[in-house]
Amino acid sequence: MGQAAQPVIDKVNANLPNAVKRLFALLEIPSISTDPAYNDQTRQAAQFMVDDLASIGFDTKLHDTDGHPMVTAHYPGPDKDNVPHVLYYGHYDVQPPDPLNLWNSPPFEPTLVDSEHGKSIVARGAVDDKGQLMTFVEAFRAWMAVHGSLPIRVTILLEGEEESGSPSLDPFLEANKQMLTADTCIVCDTGMWDVKTPAITYMLRGLVYTEVTLKGPSHDLHSGMYGGAVVNPINALTRVLSQLHNDDGVVQIPGFYDDVLPLSEEEIKQWEQLGFDETEFLATAGYKEPFGEKGHSTLERMWSRPTCDINGIWGGYTGAGAKTVIGAQVSTKVSCRLVANQDPDKIFESLKQFFQQRTPPGCKWEIQSHGISPAIRVPTDSPYLQAAMKGLSETYSKDAVLIGTGGSIPLVGSIQKILGFDSLLIGFGLDDDRVHSPNEKFEMRCFEMGIKSHVAILEQLAAVSS
Ligand code: BES
Ligand code: MN
Ligand code: MN
Repeated sequence: MGQAAQPVIDKVNANLPNAVKRLFALLEIPSISTDPAYNDQTRQAAQFMVDDLASIGFDTKLHDTDGHPMVTAHYPGPDKDNVPHVLYYGHYDVQPPDPLNLWNSPPFEPTLVDSEHGKSIVARGAVDDKGQLMTFVEAFRAWMAVHGSLPIRVTILLEGEEESGSPSLDPFLEANKQMLTADTCIVCDTGMWDVKTPAITYMLRGLVYTEVTLKGPSHDLHSGMYGGAVVNPINALTRVLSQLHNDDGVVQIPGFYDDVLPLSEEEIKQWEQLGFDETEFLATAGYKEPFGEKGHSTLERMWSRPTCDINGIWGGYTGAGAKTVIGAQVSTKVSCRLVANQDPDKIFESLKQFFQQRTPPGCKWEIQSHGISPAIRVPTDSPYLQAAMKGLSETYSKDAVLIGTGGSIPLVGSIQKILGFDSLLIGFGLDDDRVHSPNEKFEMRCFEMGIKSHVAILEQLAAVSS
């Protein structure tokens, strides 16, 4: 650690108990963006961040949108040319906590529990993304306390709709290009390679999310009177859904793999060197067996192959006991994870066609999109990425590695498209953090090291000339 960072690290250590208190206060706010019943609380979380960032010395603002508010904060940095300007991004919204009965403690009452790595913070949003966005906020707070100013120019953007597909993001970026343009964007919403090995994620998958309804008879029918005589929409839909994959796990949507590029020799080698422990990874999901597209390794299938998954299905009678009925309609949510070079609009069209070409007699489809985002690769030769790698390696006394992820973050593509610069995906989550699941957690150790990493990265970024 350099001269500027070392006293800040000491400050981070001294601040840690209060940093945890502040994170707990944020975690107590149920900012569930997908559920309109929580609109007030979602706004409350935005306001919490506005107040907190203002208290550190940022010029902070809450911006109303058609959906949930955006929070921006600015710090001018030193009065010098060539100082990098970095946009930091995180999201203050969270996924719904259900099923509630599977939580060991209430999702919005953050709790410290013992873990194999020390203590972990259990709450909805602990790692995704409140705990993670607080890592850079706490780094700024400590740096400001020690030095009275930040060594680079900083803009912060906190979003409240990431978990619902970021519908207001593109219009917001379009309308605020000047305010948000920077040299690079640091996104703190991904994971590490393992608890001891820091990582920068250089590929993210994209997403095409659809809701499909199949409508059949004019009303629910007695299954004895009509069964055998007319189409049952649930029978018909499940038949169609079963055709999405063949027995080898290969997606059967026409043209699905057309634009997928093979991995380079170099990437294959680099990924092999990571030493992926498949057994340990599968254990985080309670499995012993992997499954998926034949002919590709598990890491490849997660990071560089597209997928299609049924995320939900409902219709007919699902209550207690037996009700002999043929439901009038059935619905499902089907999503595809995309990889680099696939066109999300094209895949959405092919998926629509796939259903349309299989329309059962007398039935009708309704197909709706719940958001589309492209896959992303970020260049690995930028000076900002090199600086961040250095800061991470210093903090962990271990080389940082470059990894992929199967998840998606719409902002990264939007920034590239609308503002014209790339992102750096730096995160401190672990595979077993139960993201989007009951008992989501963030390791205390990851929180603390995340803050310290951002301090070291700040120092390294200040040495890059923009
Ligand atoms: N933070 C995640 C994405 C992620 C998950 C990155 C795991 C790395 C590892 C993000 O909040 C998320 O859940 N994204 C959604 C996007 C969707 C709602 C558009 C996803 O990937 O499902
Ligand atoms: Mn997230
Ligand atoms: Mn998420």
